[in-house]
This record gives sequence, C-alpha cells and structure tokens, in this order.
Amino acid sequence: MNIKTTLLTLSLSLSSSMALAAGQVEVLHWWTSGGEAKSVAVLKKMLEEQGYQWKDFAVAGGGGDNAMTVLKARAVSGNPPAAAQIKGPSIQEWGELGFLANIDDVAKANHWNDVLPAVVSNVMKYQGHYVAVPVNVHRVNWLWANKAIFDKLNLKVPTTMDEFFTVADKIKAAGYIPLAHGGQPWQDATVFEAIALDVLGSEDYRKAFVDLDMDVLGGDKMVKVFELFRKVHSYIDKNAPGRDWNIATSMVINGKAAMQIMGDWAKGEFTAAGKVPGKDYICAPTPGTSNQFTYNIDSFAFFKIKNKADQKAQDALAATILTPEFQQIFNLNKGSIPVRLDADMSKFDACAVRSMKDFKATAKSGDLVPSMAHGMSTTSYAQGAIYDVVTFFFNTPNADPKQTTEMLKKAVKAAL
Ligand code: BGC
Repeated sequence: MNIKTTLLTLSLSLSSSMALAAGQVEVLHWWTSGGEAKSVAVLKKMLEEQGYQWKDFAVAGGGGDNAMTVLKARAVSGNPPAAAQIKGPSIQEWGELGFLANIDDVAKANHWNDVLPAVVSNVMKYQGHYVAVPVNVHRVNWLWANKAIFDKLNLKVPTTMDEFFTVADKIKAAGYIPLAHGGQPWQDATVFEAIALDVLGSEDYRKAFVDLDMDVLGGDKMVKVFELFRKVHSYIDKNAPGRDWNIATSMVINGKAAMQIMGDWAKGEFTAAGKVPGKDYICAPTPGTSNQFTYNIDSFAFFKIKNKADQKAQDALAATILTPEFQQIFNLNKGSIPVRLDADMSKFDACAVRSMKDFKATAKSGDLVPSMAHGMSTTSYAQGAIYDVVTFFFNTPNADPKQTTEMLKKAVKAAL
C-alpha cells in the first residue's frame, strides 16, 4: 500500500468512525409527496451539516395511518426508531407505554416554554416532561380553488355551504369536477370535520370531538352534518376512491377540478409546482368557518435509546427543529406556519400570513379547535371509531343520516 492509499484509507476510516461517534437518528415520517419531501429534506440537511447521520424511515400514505401501523410493529419488536412523527393525544398513549425519552434538557437550554404557545407545549409533554418537539402549525379548514376556472365562470369562492352548492352546480355544468377528493378514511374525515365545524360551531365541535359528548355526537345538528356531507359527495368524481390527497391537489393545480378541501400541506404542492396564491389559486377558509381555525400540529416524539452518541444526535434533531432558521425554510415549503410565537413572517405568502393572524385571533376568541381527522382532538381509538362511521356513510349511498348519527354515538361509546 503506498502512502497515498494508506492516508486515504486512514482518513476514510477516521471519518466513518467520527460519523459513528457523532451518532445517528433514524426518523420515521410520512412526508413523501412533492412538497412534503422537499420540506423534510431541509431537516436532514441541517442535521447532516452538524455531522450527524440521518437514517430515513419514510412510510408513504397521507395522514400517517400506514406509518403508525409500521411504527407499532417496530416498537412491539423492541426496535423503535429514534424519532417518529407522532401527534396530539397519541403522544400520551406512547408515553403511557413507557417508550418515550425525556428531552427536558434540550427544551430548557433552548427556552421552549417561552417560545411556544401553551396550547402546543402542553401536548409535547408527558407527565410534565418534554418527550416531543413541535414542527409547525397546519390549518385544516382550508378550501383550495383554481383561479382560472373561477375567473372563467365568473364565480366567487363560496363562503357558506349554500354558496358552495350553487357554485359547484355551475362548475359541474361547465364540465369540470367541482371537488377534487381522494376516497381514503382520513380524507373523508377532513371534509366531514370542516362541515361539522360550520354546522356545530366551535363549542359543540369541541364537545363532540374532544369531550366525546354523546348528546352532541348523537344530536340533531350532527344529522344535518351527515346530510350536507352526503350532498358534497355528489360533486366528486367516480375515481375518487383510493386516490392520494396530492393527486387530488394536482387536479386543482392542472385545472381538471375546481376545488379541494384539505389542510395547508396542499399549499406545499402548489408551491412545489411553482404556483402563486392570488394569481394561480385561491386559499379560503372552508364555507362558514372564516372565524374558526382547526389546527393540526406536526411533531416528532423521541424514543428511549441506549447508545450515547445516538442520544446526542436525537438532542441535536430536537434542537434543530425549533431553530428560527429551520422553522422558516421548512414551513415555507410545507405550507404550514412556524410554531414559534416570535417567527418572522415577512417571507411568507398571503395564505400563511392569514393563517398566523387567524391562529392568534382564534386562540383568544375560543374558535381555535383541534382537528379530529388529524389526531389532535381525541384518542386514536375514538378517532378510529369516528373514521369508520364517516367513511361507511360516505361510501354507502342509501345510508340514513339519522341512523348513522346513532351509529356514531354507539361506535364512540364502544371506543371509550
Ligand atoms: C400531516 C401533514 C401531512 C398530511 C398529509 C397530516 O396528517 O399532519 O404533515 O402533510 O397529513 O400526509
């Protein structure tokens, strides 16, 4: 071996042992669409720049149902990843099972209690200790509209459900698909909860999906929610079943469909396609909910691991996620808004600026509510029961709204 090769071998083995010494994090997430992949790539890059290794554990499937199934299998076999995209009350479920690591030191060093709103930091703690870190705030009650179609047909984006049906009829008559939708339980639930927010109002929405109040779950207003939900079904196309959410978004981007009801990760797709709000597309709160905000906060929970170097990598990941730099670049790509209260919004578009304004205003007015469809409002068991009934109803043309409301009540009761 000549000197050059020896030096090269030495430096290679040194750098690989340094990399090992610096530790690795395996990160489970479900960010695989165009906009999502661009966003998560930022985190990987920022971690690698600090000398740590990122082991990607992406499980495709919007809403994360597939990812959660895979995570459970890995955890049960005693081999969970170092970090996983886990949200809302599920963090408590994993905490109770004893899987999660305490990251109070990182939180303290970076003043998380001061920079995060309490509605967010409380969810990140298990028994008063930080076990997860929030990434962003997504607004779920958004309607996305193709501007060219609305302009061509001289239509205004609907602000009530009545207007929605009037506009949708005209769009249908002009040969476009009024509503782009993907028939998957979480997407059905996303549309359902938007209608519920309008019909029930914030207080009863909370009673139904947070308190699981049987009177509201089985009440007359819920019957009305199902009736409207049924009517909405007639404005989606026959190929909706099984379609991924981002394919539905691309139908709005390409002018095949006029609207989509979806959280603002859809904006990540518009952005990735080079589209500009106000010019190519319009973002508006879902009909009847302009003063309400359904939130969905992405977060990563950290699992207990033994290797000290990997623990350091975990801490670095947690700290990086809440840096102002990461919050800015990530959320510009993802469509969401930063979770830090002190975030600089000057680079964000009109949809994000409105989202931040409404997030703060609704936190004061009591109209900031957790998304049931995105696992923010209740246990995964109750959420699963609601999903089942909602999806069954949406796919069963002759299911009766009144009977289904009773069914909803019973299904939730059985999941308690
Ligand atoms: C997540 C988003 C994600 C969306 C679609 C939601 O539940 O919170 O981050 O983009 O699912 O996959």
